[in-house]
Amino acid sequence: MKLTAVFPGTFDPITNGHLDIISRGRDLFDRIVIAILRNPDKDPLFPLEERVDILRSVVGRWSNVEVDSFDGLLVDFARSQGAQVIVRGLRALSDFEYEFQMTLMNQRLEPGIQTVFMMPSEAYSYVSSRLVKEVARLGGDVTGLVPPEVISRLKKRFAVPGRAPARKARG
Ligand code: PNS
Repeated sequence: MKLTAVFPGTFDPITNGHLDIISRGRDLFDRIVIAILRNPDKDPLFPLEERVDILRSVVGRWSNVEVDSFDGLLVDFARSQGAQVIVRGLRALSDFEYEFQMTLMNQRLEPGIQTVFMMPSEAYSYVSSRLVKEVARLGGDVTGLVPPEVISRLKKRFAVPGRAPARKARG
């Protein structure tokens, strides 16, 4: 049987932690569909179309990875893709409670779809889209934490006229 996994999220923006999970997932599943939540309520920094463009350019080289967007229930989207699995990344214990609740709710809604948790490399265990945006907004360097496509777009978003470029982080 061919295994399809959906990897859902807001991806505002995608980080190297997300990418690490996708790249590990490629070895486990025949097909991964990255499902970007269309979430105007959260007032994302990057509009949906831009998040889709970024994701497509970042994972375009991987033949078994697709990018799509959804609204409504995740399990409905997963069903529409013929997915048997939902993949979520777990970085730290603090992620657990939210993930636990979502998993049990999704199980109740669709017992036939299993949620599988994957851990990124420890190098990314502290990286989140929220922190990346905060650091970039305040002029800090996020090189190595997000793909280059994201760096250039963050720079455009947060460019302050006349301000010297942020110093590179050591290491
Ligand atoms: O990257 P995020 O923001 O933590 O992803 C959250 C996401 C998109 C997985 C979650 O908000 C979601 O699944 N939303 C769809 C709505 C839904 O299905 N809700 C019921 C299950 S909790």
